[in-house]
Amino acid sequence: MKKKLLTLLLSLAVLLPATADEGMWLPSLISGRMKEMRAKGFRLSTEDIYSINRASMKDAVVLFGGFCTGEIVSKEGLVLTNHHCGYDAIQFHSSVEHDYLTHGFWARNRQEELPNEGLYVRILVRMEDVTEQLAAGQTAQAIIEAAKAEGKGYQASIEQMYYGNQQFLFVYQQFDDVRLVGAPPSSIGKFGGDTDNWIWPRHTGDFSLFRIYADANNEPAAYSTDNVPYQPKRHFKVSTQGVKEGDFTMIYGFPGNTQQYITSDAVKYIQHRSDPMKIDLRTRRLEIIGKAQEADPKVRIQYAAKHANIANAWKKWQGEVMGLERLNTIFKKESYEARFRAWALDKPEYAHLLDSLEAAYASVADRYYLEELKNETLRTIELAKLAGRTVAALKLDPKSEKRQEALREVEALYKNYDVNVDRALTQCVLAGFAEYCPAESYPKNLQSLIAKHGGTVEAYTEYLYANSRFTSLEKAQEATIETLLLDPAYLLYLAVRNTQGRLPRNLSNVAAIGRWYKPYLKALMEFDPERAFFPDANMTLRVSYGSIAGYEYADGEYHIPHTTIDGIIAKDNPEIYDYDIPQSLRNLYATKDYGRWAVEMNGRQTVPVCFLATNHTTGGNSGSPVLNGRGELVGINFDRTWRSTMSDIDFDPTLCRNIAVDIRYVLMVIDRIGGAGYLVDEMLASK
Ligand code: ARG
Ligand code: GLU
Repeated sequence: MKKKLLTLLLSLAVLLPATADEGMWLPSLISGRMKEMRAKGFRLSTEDIYSINRASMKDAVVLFGGFCTGEIVSKEGLVLTNHHCGYDAIQFHSSVEHDYLTHGFWARNRQEELPNEGLYVRILVRMEDVTEQLAAGQTAQAIIEAAKAEGKGYQASIEQMYYGNQQFLFVYQQFDDVRLVGAPPSSIGKFGGDTDNWIWPRHTGDFSLFRIYADANNEPAAYSTDNVPYQPKRHFKVSTQGVKEGDFTMIYGFPGNTQQYITSDAVKYIQHRSDPMKIDLRTRRLEIIGKAQEADPKVRIQYAAKHANIANAWKKWQGEVMGLERLNTIFKKESYEARFRAWALDKPEYAHLLDSLEAAYASVADRYYLEELKNETLRTIELAKLAGRTVAALKLDPKSEKRQEALREVEALYKNYDVNVDRALTQCVLAGFAEYCPAESYPKNLQSLIAKHGGTVEAYTEYLYANSRFTSLEKAQEATIETLLLDPAYLLYLAVRNTQGRLPRNLSNVAAIGRWYKPYLKALMEFDPERAFFPDANMTLRVSYGSIAGYEYADGEYHIPHTTIDGIIAKDNPEIYDYDIPQSLRNLYATKDYGRWAVEMNGRQTVPVCFLATNHTTGGNSGSPVLNGRGELVGINFDRTWRSTMSDIDFDPTLCRNIAVDIRYVLMVIDRIGGAGYLVDEMLASK
């Protein structure tokens, strides 16, 4: 009976009106949102979005490499995603002679498309609620194995929705031959760099092109020159009609992680403890790297990707804290909880839940915090990482291919390593760790290493870098394994390695806390039947809908939702790395010879570049297709504004905006900068 009630509530939940545009919905349950989507301008049907009986949009969306989204845009398996999603592949193929990061890469024909070991895409075959099967005693393992046996390259997993109140089987077909087809120069694909990251107005051409290859039967196969372009069941039609403020937008992709239902205790932890600690420690590291980059062009290149990685979350967390403060989320949650408490008072099943959650947070938070602290400090020490990796490689069978490969990987790490920068970083994080770590939790083995060698963090760091052979590849290679096993950096590696464990992705997902969220979510659905509950993002396929919209950035300051090539030129500056555009783009602007890509905006001939919309998105939605009301591709999602990043916890329709690159800019860059008009033709010919 209780289970029936829950099932009923879950099916009702998706039918309720959501606060405008909030939510990341499961495509198989999208019918519940259809009324609202149609009211906003969606012209197609539920079956067009998701169907297991016929080709639907889901067949054209791919999980790209396990961390991003991509979309199929031609009959021959052409895939669009972000430049920052294809970055590793582009970097891998780059060398001094062929610097694709700097100059871009455009295959002139199929033979020139470049294979990428380890890169895969997954296409969803189907999703299925298996809550009842599991409750009836079927094992997850058996369900997964049966699904995997259904087809070639099939992968399957069972994912928890609403903290395990509902469980879904996801069956994918995985393709392992994915080739690089094109990428703009970084000065377009990463235009604005970290300065503009999370910022509007934005002018980044954040896209790259790949192609899926399959065997002669159109089935997944390992890379082979015999493979042929994959023929998808469905691909997105590209629209060059453009979008204007108010137009419907839908995003179909793989959002990674949100926490919409956490209690005020969890928000306090994020806003007052975790984020501030992580921001502070990253500020210090970024300052060290940034100064060194300014002083030495070689370091600038070596540490570019590292700096970008550290800075991305660092900036996002700052926006998140600011947003949570601005929305007064803790107070709102406390009031909501007070009402829940009163409602639950006479329900023994639920009355204790908030106390149980509070107690669970109190008992787990410090431990989780310590792990987060280690991730931001001890576990970032590169010298220790290099020592660990080198020794592990040397321990492999001397004749094995694996060993050669592992050593090559270590060598590659040294290419982007500067010992002076690293020494400063190590001292910085050891000091930061000591500062934040309560004395009783400080690891004994690390304490004794420091005590034995100088007694202070400064003296220990001096000693470490003066005596370790891992400070350069040559020194490490000359030493015997016996010496390396006693190397101070290897000893440090052993001291910090012991502390490494895999963290659940949020404090609230730690088992001791998460167990209470399962009944809490169930209770919330009874308590708050008017609320439209969508399951938190967990890297499964979702639909979010909204519309093109600007927003009030500050009092009296409205940000319009479009940028153009004129804004690129206004930012262009050969002196500033992040804003130094290719000469070809300057020339194009000078002649205004935009050809078929010209549009008239505000009375002038220009080219649209990026736009803003109200779709609820998060990390993992990078590369997601932005679709118009007819399901045609109008843009590629790649970011949110800084002020919206609290939407992972608290979505505010007046403030939260995602950022996409306009497909017309993408096409123009391929055509006019890349000279690869044949790819544009391939996309536009594909009806
Ligand atoms: N903020 C975007 C995301 O979270 C883009 C990151 C890549 N760009 C950069 N400048 N770091 O992934
Ligand atoms: N750039 C993010 C990604 O890699 C998307 C931005 C966001 O977090 O919304 O998925």
